[in-house]
Amino acid sequence: MRAVDIIAKKRDGLALSSAEIDFFIQGYTRGDIPDYQAAAWAMAVLLKGMNNRETTDLAMAMVHSGQTLNMDRVAPVVVDKHSTGGVGDKTTLVVAPMVAALGQPVAKMSGRGLGFSGGTLDKLESIPGYNVSLTIDEFFKAVARNGVVVAGQTADLAPADGKLYALRDVTATVPSLPLIASSIMSKKIASGAQAMVLDVKVGRGAFMTTLKDARALAEIMISIGEQVGRRVTAVLSSMDQPLGNAVGNTLEVAEAVETLHGCGPADFVEHCVVIAAEMLRLAGLAETPETGRALAKGTLADGSALAVFKKWVAGQGGDARVADDLSILEQAPLRQVVTAPQSGYLAGIDAREVGLLSVELGAGRERKGDPVDHAVGLVFAAKVGAQLETGDALCTIHARTQEAADRAQVRLLAACTWSEELVAEPPLVYDILRG
Ligand code: URA
Repeated sequence: MRAVDIIAKKRDGLALSSAEIDFFIQGYTRGDIPDYQAAAWAMAVLLKGMNNRETTDLAMAMVHSGQTLNMDRVAPVVVDKHSTGGVGDKTTLVVAPMVAALGQPVAKMSGRGLGFSGGTLDKLESIPGYNVSLTIDEFFKAVARNGVVVAGQTADLAPADGKLYALRDVTATVPSLPLIASSIMSKKIASGAQAMVLDVKVGRGAFMTTLKDARALAEIMISIGEQVGRRVTAVLSSMDQPLGNAVGNTLEVAEAVETLHGCGPADFVEHCVVIAAEMLRLAGLAETPETGRALAKGTLADGSALAVFKKWVAGQGGDARVADDLSILEQAPLRQVVTAPQSGYLAGIDAREVGLLSVELGAGRERKGDPVDHAVGLVFAAKVGAQLETGDALCTIHARTQEAADRAQVRLLAACTWSEELVAEPPLVYDILRG
């Protein structure tokens, strides 16, 4: 077999055989197939698509590119959650300790920022000392000891996805249903969780911009999971405006900590409660989503989620003082308040544009391997539906330089739309597919 023939076959819109997919993925993982061929192949997949059988084969080839963990020795059920990627999505930082506070271990392999969407690893690395690179042994020990582990892909777990993910980020090959489904499911299956909640984002700030595509992505991921005996629930959630108020790495960590203290923005808190409730239901700790909601809320009210957060962060080498003292997080040198240019109702905040402008500020990557600037980003003072007067605070930009702040301000104002009429708050969750 030759890589070039497999690329050509997909370019011509033909389905690849299981053997061809496996050959390509194992060859790329070993380094026999170079980045430029993998980039061409990924673009062909993005343009021509894959059928469900190919997508499942791709996920399993990526699982087999490394080791798989067996979590049975940690707990009867280990649950995981994964977002398909959004703007301001710091859900893991709150939901993992919420669920673990109820005695349910959470073991999670996360990714870095991808295109306009932020990544949990980049956020966690903005906590001084936090180590995302764990060996498999350390991964096991951390979840057994602290109830939560969130780390990056080790060289051993789904390494094909680790390589391909970074390549896709900089070759405009992220928004492809088969590539996203196989990327997520390979990590989830390899890391051994028996049950998982997939947070499938829909809207301007998501890779799936329509409910139809998001549903198709959710369905194929549920099907892949079920084929290997995993219990999967998919939450189809809105990503038209950023989630919560903060966008940017340290800013999102700060918002997550505030949420764990019981002072989070309403939309973000509600989103965390929905995801946690589904995780608890899958784990068998809540019979119904309603019971799960009540349990999840209780962990914020009684401080138990915050206590687990501290233990988790300290257990991965991070400075757990962050839970009580946000000043230990790096601060951007410049803060610029952007005010409402007119009176009226805020009708839209284009989440994609906000994600892109935060990448331009430095919070994400333009090229593979670029460092990220943890301190920069934005914090909204108003969300869609808010009524503002001219000059009211709309958002604070955290930037490195005045020039960067000014550029971001122009983009931000262009990303907002206004209405004279009352604007209803947009829905948070469209549907929940319980596999
Ligand atoms: N999250 C992932 O892990 N992979 C993708 O491709 C997109 C979002």
